[in-house]
Amino acid sequence: MSSRMKLPPLRPITEDNPYKLVFVCLGNICRSPTGEGVFQHIVNEAGFGNYFEVDSAGTSAFHVGQPANSKSSDVADAHGVQLKSRARQFDKEDLDYYDLIIPMDNENRDNIYAMADSEEQKEKVQLLREYDPNPEDGQVPDPYYGGLEGFENVYQIVERSCKNLLEQLKPQVSP
Ligand code: 4NP
Repeated sequence: MSSRMKLPPLRPITEDNPYKLVFVCLGNICRSPTGEGVFQHIVNEAGFGNYFEVDSAGTSAFHVGQPANSKSSDVADAHGVQLKSRARQFDKEDLDYYDLIIPMDNENRDNIYAMADSEEQKEKVQLLREYDPNPEDGQVPDPYYGGLEGFENVYQIVERSCKNLLEQLKPQVSP
C-alpha cells in the first residue's frame, strides 16, 4: 500500500453531467450499502446532491433484491444516515457507465478486473481505502459473520474515506 493518496478520475462535474460512483462489495448488503448511504449523505449535506449519482452493487448474486443488513442499517441510523439500497449484482456494463468504481477489498477488485476488457475500464477501479487517511492494509474488512463492533468499524472507515474522496472531487464541481 502506497502512502501517496490516489486521485479519482477527474472531469468537470455539472448538474447535467453528474459524477457517477458505485461502491462494490461481495453481497451488497453490508459494506457497499454503507458506502452508498454515507457518500450520498455527505454530498447532500455539502449541497452537492444534484452533482453526484451514487449506487452500490455486489460481485455475487447471493442477496439480490435484499435491503441492507440490519446491523449495517442500525449503525448507519445511529449516525443519522439511512441505507436505502436493494442488492443487485455488479454488471459488465457498469464498467462503462460509472466514472469511479470503488471495491471494498482486493477480492472484489480482482473480480471486477476480470470483467474488464480495457485499461480505461480498469483505471476507474480504485479501492475505497486508497482514500483512507489511515489505510492500514487497504481492505475494508467483511463484517458479515461478526458482531456490531465490526459494523461500526466499517462505518468509520467508510465515513473518513468518503469525506476525503469528496474533498478531492469538489474542485471539479461547477455550479
Ligand atoms: P458485504 O458482506 O459483502 O459487505 O455485503 C457480506 C454479505 C454476505 C456474505 C458475505 C459478505 N455472504 O457470504 O453471504
